[in-house]
Amino acid sequence: MRGARIAGTGRELPSRVVTNEDLTKLMDTTDEWIVQRTGIRERRFADPSAGNSHMGAAAGRKAIAQAGISVEDVGLLVFATLSPDYYFPGCGVMVQAQLGMPTVGALDVRDQCTGFLYGLSVAEAYVKGGFHDYVLVIGSELHSKGLNFSTAGRDTAVIFGDGAGAVVVGPAENGKGILSSHLHSEGKHAAELCVEEPGFLKSPWLTHETIDSGKHYPKMNGKYVFAHAVRRFPEVIRESLAKNGYTASDLALLIPHQANQRITQAVGAAMELPEGKVFSNIERYGNTTAASIPIALDECLEQGRIREGDLVCLAAFGSGFTWASTLIRW
Ligand code: ACO
Repeated sequence: MRGARIAGTGRELPSRVVTNEDLTKLMDTTDEWIVQRTGIRERRFADPSAGNSHMGAAAGRKAIAQAGISVEDVGLLVFATLSPDYYFPGCGVMVQAQLGMPTVGALDVRDQCTGFLYGLSVAEAYVKGGFHDYVLVIGSELHSKGLNFSTAGRDTAVIFGDGAGAVVVGPAENGKGILSSHLHSEGKHAAELCVEEPGFLKSPWLTHETIDSGKHYPKMNGKYVFAHAVRRFPEVIRESLAKNGYTASDLALLIPHQANQRITQAVGAAMELPEGKVFSNIERYGNTTAASIPIALDECLEQGRIREGDLVCLAAFGSGFTWASTLIRW
């Protein structure tokens, strides 16, 4: 079987910077509380006229250019998000139209913080299986229109930010590229981190009561999420290393989903990795859910943090619960 590698990356961050200080004008919070509990100092919020698909398309366009291919070469598009433009159809078809792509398949993935790695595993399988030469994978989130900026929503509103990242997956030779992907889920924890409504469990699916009770805002059991994240991240990173005959000491870089700096630090410590081997940019962007890993990957490559031959692990945990890892020989 042929290999699959990341042939190009791109990111798109809105220009509007929102600091912790800005949030203190909207809710009862402090810069100190946010930095201490999350490591976040600022995040980006999209222009109100922008849609998620616009950011995703911009990131996708950059990844295609960096891969040195054209939109006609992309055989499949995968779009991961929890904040789509429309309830349906998904953002994938919006990007197909905005990029002027041929009528290729556009697959939408709904696995929140783990969505990008789930999408990447689909691309890996299609390219390794020889079904397509190039697959575009986008992770993009527009959280700022869906958060509760009153004090009642402060536990989640301070965490999330907007942004998009994308990669082109293409064929690889010589055993390089994506070595393996490992996906997991445990749906019994779904209610611990979710947006409850609108949803088709209710009839009708959307009511005035939904809005009045704020059930359309994210609900998070923070301590519960924390406890599961710090267990599942190391587990799934070790799974990918063991599958390929490696240990943590072989890793040049770990790029975890940017959930929360305290989670990232706990994972680094559990893996006995020095700080320099665990990438973090949450301070500047907050938690961008499905977008955080492709944004981070694009920055790492730009900063020269990844060199040819490096062993790099991408790992995520999030709502569902879902968790995943991807091991790459660069
Ligand atoms: N500003 C000030 N005070 C706040 C804020 C805020 N933004 N948010 C909550 N508080 C208050 C609470 O109301 C509570 O007040 P009380 O003691 O008077 O009731 C107090 O701070 C402590 O609240 P806790 O929920 O106990 O705070 P905790 O120490 O657990 O920190 C946090 C909350 C940061 C969310 C933590 O639980 C955590 O790190 N959880 C991990 C979840 C996470 O990071 N999720 C990211 C998204 S999911 C993902 O990507 C995997």
